[in-house]
Amino acid sequence: MTGRLTPNNLRCEYLENPMGIDIQSPRLSWQLTCDENDMYQSAYRIQVATSPEDLRSETNLIWDSGQIASSSTLHIPYEGKSLQAEKRYYWIVRVWDQEDRAGEDAPLAFWQMGLGNKEQWQAQWIGFRTQVDETVRPSGKAGNNSQFFGEGDDILNMRPPAYLRRDIDILQSITSATLYVTARGLYDVTINGQPITDRRLTPGWTDYNKTIEYQTYDVAQFLITGENAIGVILADGWYAGYLGPWGRRGIYGDTASLLFQLNITLEDGSQRIIISDESWKANEGAIRYTEMYHGEYYDATREEIGWDKPGFNDAHWHSVELFDMPDVNLQAQLLQPIRVTQQFAPIAIDEIEPDVYQTDMGQNFAGWVRLIAKGEAGTTIRLRFAESLLPNGRLDTLNLNAARATDTWVLRGDGEEVFEPRFTYHGFRYVEITGYPDTLTLDNIVGCVLHTDLPMTGQIETSSPMVNKIIENTLWSQRSNFYSVPTDCPQRAERLGWTGDIFSFSSTATYLMDCGAYYSRFMAMLVEAQSQEGAFSNVVPRVVVTADGAPAFGDGGVYLPWLMYQQYGDKQLIERHYPALVRWLDYIADANPNYLWIERRNPDFGDWLAYRDNTPNDVLATTIWAMDALWMAKMASVLGNEQHVTKYLDLHKKIAAAFREAYVTENNHIKGDTQAVYVLALAAKLLPDDLHLNATNRLVQLIEERNWHLSTGFVATHFLLDVLSDNGRTDIAYCLLLQDTLPSWGYMVKQGATTLWERWDGDVEMRRLHGLDNSPRPFTHSVIGELVGMNSYNHFSLGVVTGWLFQYVLGIKSTSQGFQRIRIEPHITLGLAYARGHYDSIRGRVAISWHKSDDKLDFEITIPSNIKANVILPSHNPERDKQFNPEASLRNQAIEFVLGSGTYHLTTTWHD
Ligand code: BGC
Repeated sequence: MTGRLTPNNLRCEYLENPMGIDIQSPRLSWQLTCDENDMYQSAYRIQVATSPEDLRSETNLIWDSGQIASSSTLHIPYEGKSLQAEKRYYWIVRVWDQEDRAGEDAPLAFWQMGLGNKEQWQAQWIGFRTQVDETVRPSGKAGNNSQFFGEGDDILNMRPPAYLRRDIDILQSITSATLYVTARGLYDVTINGQPITDRRLTPGWTDYNKTIEYQTYDVAQFLITGENAIGVILADGWYAGYLGPWGRRGIYGDTASLLFQLNITLEDGSQRIIISDESWKANEGAIRYTEMYHGEYYDATREEIGWDKPGFNDAHWHSVELFDMPDVNLQAQLLQPIRVTQQFAPIAIDEIEPDVYQTDMGQNFAGWVRLIAKGEAGTTIRLRFAESLLPNGRLDTLNLNAARATDTWVLRGDGEEVFEPRFTYHGFRYVEITGYPDTLTLDNIVGCVLHTDLPMTGQIETSSPMVNKIIENTLWSQRSNFYSVPTDCPQRAERLGWTGDIFSFSSTATYLMDCGAYYSRFMAMLVEAQSQEGAFSNVVPRVVVTADGAPAFGDGGVYLPWLMYQQYGDKQLIERHYPALVRWLDYIADANPNYLWIERRNPDFGDWLAYRDNTPNDVLATTIWAMDALWMAKMASVLGNEQHVTKYLDLHKKIAAAFREAYVTENNHIKGDTQAVYVLALAAKLLPDDLHLNATNRLVQLIEERNWHLSTGFVATHFLLDVLSDNGRTDIAYCLLLQDTLPSWGYMVKQGATTLWERWDGDVEMRRLHGLDNSPRPFTHSVIGELVGMNSYNHFSLGVVTGWLFQYVLGIKSTSQGFQRIRIEPHITLGLAYARGHYDSIRGRVAISWHKSDDKLDFEITIPSNIKANVILPSHNPERDKQFNPEASLRNQAIEFVLGSGTYHLTTTWHD
């Protein structure tokens, strides 16, 4: 017990010790812990230096904030001397508590500046145009060509990636070596044959015509004095490969290219700069093609052994092609990497016919498998991936749309070999393996889970195994789709950043993973994709789907900055993007002078994939517009823009009046009379007090009419459970949570789901759409393409239930800037005996557990240092329970009081 505040978890721009930052005022944050209750920061002091020694001795500081009286721990902008490209800056924070006692020392942290803008770059863009390998070209069409989106390729035109190399002679010891590298396409860099990183699918996906992100690596450990070789494999990826369901490739450009600059400081202080330029050599290699959707073909017999090592004779290799520096933002990437985060063996391997194995990984996920084999040269092993099985037990690949999801591996035949693809990924649970030269065992196949490696933030466990599985499945769908951008699905030929999907899931996602850097970057991309007229697009980056501004899609652009403020206290993000938000609001308002969102809704997805219900799209759109107005008013208030607060509150008032006039009927029903219209009208606060109760009752009635089932698509489901709880009907929310027949989250679990589905009735639709239920083949075209392939078993779009569990069942909510003030208000009713969990907020861990026993509810609550919480606990005898906290105020069936930081055990009266 020291009783002192300890700063920890030091972050710069949301990242731990980031390499490569181009910002002149990076923001610094920390958390505080203490082994004593009720501890608060009264002051802080940040010091920055270019070496740990300077920092420790407090000499040559380049910034000393001095002691600042403040409780602030988040996003403190650096305000020291101007930062120099390529330099590493070490920082430390000291804190004082409310009694002016100095806290414990924090660990040192650092950030390293990147290479900055184009002036510092000497490297040239290089590439090598390879040829389609006809001997391995897969048959079949490249995509589902659609009359709506134009023709794609008729046959697959997948080209081998380019292999690039050069040697470098280093004559002295190296003091430091920093690599700045990016690609239009995807790169894998080795030095002397060693991979320099475990990052995958780098540099990730951006709108390459506007922004290209580079990465920064410390590579000193890979270089030796003497001969060195650099090897790069450069694949098409999102840049030049197939993208979207319609079989089009080369959307950003035809040939992938590399930008590579290695800055080396030698022992004598001199600098060497190794750049990508015409001195590099290029060739094709063992990877004969590699595509996100279609898989990778690796022919080990074509591997030129030693191509990536020094001493290799590359006389027969070709010259590289040089490309001009494009007119784009070239900037350091501020994001955690995509990498393999988990590996596991299958739960079953069956030889389903001679030479054909089928493995069940036991979990639907995104990534690939690593396979180990020993066999003769030329042995060809084929791996096919699918999420589900047909009734005959074979892979069901129909829902993969045009994605071939097939990896092929030709053995070299020189002993045990290992295959792991590099530039593709699959969404799958089952793998079919043909041509394996031996008996396939659990030792020879490993599932590799791949995604953007964001820190995990939350966990819940309840007394219901089914609910626990719903939470687990939500996390798996998030992991499967949090790639470079949040995608809709990981398996079919789509995997686009649909803004509607992330709008619906964004809040929930923050409870499972730290999305600060991820959303900041995505928000910038969203604004970058905004149309001339002001529309936020339906997919980000804006490719393939070029119609913009669908209701509940584009609006994600308004919601995300507000969410970032609530969860992470990020005011700067609002400031930066506010003008873009105003333009979006204007875009809607300009076309809809009557305050109903009728025009500019194209294409209008409505309450997407509602269950046998038909919510009028104009009603839905108008409610979302009203929500936009409320979020705008709140953000205007954060910015101190009072004029806009009035403007947007006024807009909301006008929309509400128009809404009531146009859509509320005489018997107080809302046009459409679906569950969704009441949910949305309540969420958007469009009803006067007298209609509020009415709408809640009608919503409950409609749920009851469906025998206590929901009928909402992902737009209304987003708000459904919150609206029920906020309007005193947590009992109904629990009922939907615990439901296990169609449609419900529990139904998916009962059908064996290990992820969340795109459709409530995914399994039923699978049989119907794929003609397996003997019903006539359905209509196959929808406005966005082929419906027949549109049945993913791995979408996060319905995942909001898990967010509700955090916010209402555990009851953890931020009520001001980034959890500065917390509300802890567990909603407890029949159905669960206990729930426990935590959320690692940006200010530290908030934890709660509640447990029913006999006539009481036992609570354990933890609040991080420097924070206070308003705690509202359910109680059937508030008068009596108030005794343990004399300052508590009584509420209907609850008591409310304030708790400071610390861990508390509390009990209230309760009977189910
Ligand atoms: C996606 C959805 C998306 C939709 C647009 C689908 O293909 O998977 O989740 O929101 O298109 O309606």
